[in-house]
Amino acid sequence: MTVAVTTPVPLAASNGLIDVCLAAIRPAADDTNLFDFSRSDQAPLPPAEPGAHIDLHLPNGMTRQYSLVTPHQNPDCYTLGIKRDPNSRGGSRYIFDELKVGQAVRISAPRNHFPLAAAAPHHVLIAGGIGITPIFAMIQRLRADGAPFNLHYAGRSRSQLAFLDDLDGAPFAHIHCDDEHDGALLDLMSVVAHAPAGSHFYCCGPAPMLEVFRAATVALSPERVHFEYFTPKEEASTAGGFVVELARSGREVLIPLGQTILEALREAGLELDSSCQEGICGVCETKVIAGIPDHRDAVLSDGEHAANKTMMICCSGSKSERLVLDL
Ligand code: FES
Repeated sequence: MTVAVTTPVPLAASNGLIDVCLAAIRPAADDTNLFDFSRSDQAPLPPAEPGAHIDLHLPNGMTRQYSLVTPHQNPDCYTLGIKRDPNSRGGSRYIFDELKVGQAVRISAPRNHFPLAAAAPHHVLIAGGIGITPIFAMIQRLRADGAPFNLHYAGRSRSQLAFLDDLDGAPFAHIHCDDEHDGALLDLMSVVAHAPAGSHFYCCGPAPMLEVFRAATVALSPERVHFEYFTPKEEASTAGGFVVELARSGREVLIPLGQTILEALREAGLELDSSCQEGICGVCETKVIAGIPDHRDAVLSDGEHAANKTMMICCSGSKSERLVLDL
C-alpha cells in the first residue's frame, strides 16, 4: 500500500474549509457528470486516499458529501462523480442546474471511512451505479500497486454506468447490467462464495444492494467487510425520553420526543460539529462512556455497533435511560 505524503497544505478559509472553484464538468453516464474542483491560486489540495470523500458546501447553503474519484498525494484538483437524484432534496439538483464552471464553493478536507485494507491478500470491489466513485479510486491505487483485485460493477443498464471506457473488457472487471439478464440483479452471494480465500470485500451502492452485501458477508470476520452507503440506512431516532450526561462537565440534558441527540444538545447550547446529519459522513462521531446507543448510522460496522464505544449523535438514539458521552 502506498503511504500518503502529508505535506501541510495552507487552507484558504478560517473555519477549516477550502475555497475552490468548479473548473470543469464532464459527462460520465446518463444523469451522471464528473465535476472538477481546484483552488483558484492553483495551490495543491490536501492528499486523498482511495475511499475518501469531501463535504461540498454549496452556495445555496446546502452541504453534501461526495466521494473522490481519483486518489492523489499532491492533487491540484478533486474530481467528484455526481448523479442527478430524481428525488433530490436540492443537492444534486442544484449542482446540475445551477452550479456553473468558474463558480466558487467551499469544501472540507478529505475524510476516509472506507479505506483499502493494507494487508489483504486479495480485494473484491463491488459497485452499484454511482457507487463506482470511491471504487474507481481504489482500482487506480490497486493497479498502480500491482495488488490482486477484481471488480463487480452493476447497474440497471449500460448507459447508466460511468467509466466503462476504462472498465469494460478489463481482465479484472465483471460488468453486470440488469437489463441484459432479464432484470436479474448481480448475485452477491455467488460473488462472495467464489472469491479467493482471505479476500477483503468492499461495496458501495444503493441501500438495497448494501443490505444484500451485508447478508452475503455476515459470516466473515468484520475486518474483511468494508462498505459505504451514500444514502441514509435508517430513519434517525427521535423517540427521545432518555438523558445524555456530558462527562466533561457532569451536565445532564433530557432528549425530548421529536429531537435527535445532536439537535437537543445544540438547543442546550453546545457547539458540535456535524455535516450530513444523516448518519453517513462520520463527522459527529462521539465516544460513549456508558449506556447503550440505538445505532442508526451507516458509518460504523456491525462490530463497532456491538462494541458501543462510539456513536453518531446526529441520528442514533439510546436503548438505555442514560447515555454518558465524552462531551
Ligand atoms: S453528521 Fe454525518 S454522520 Fe452525523
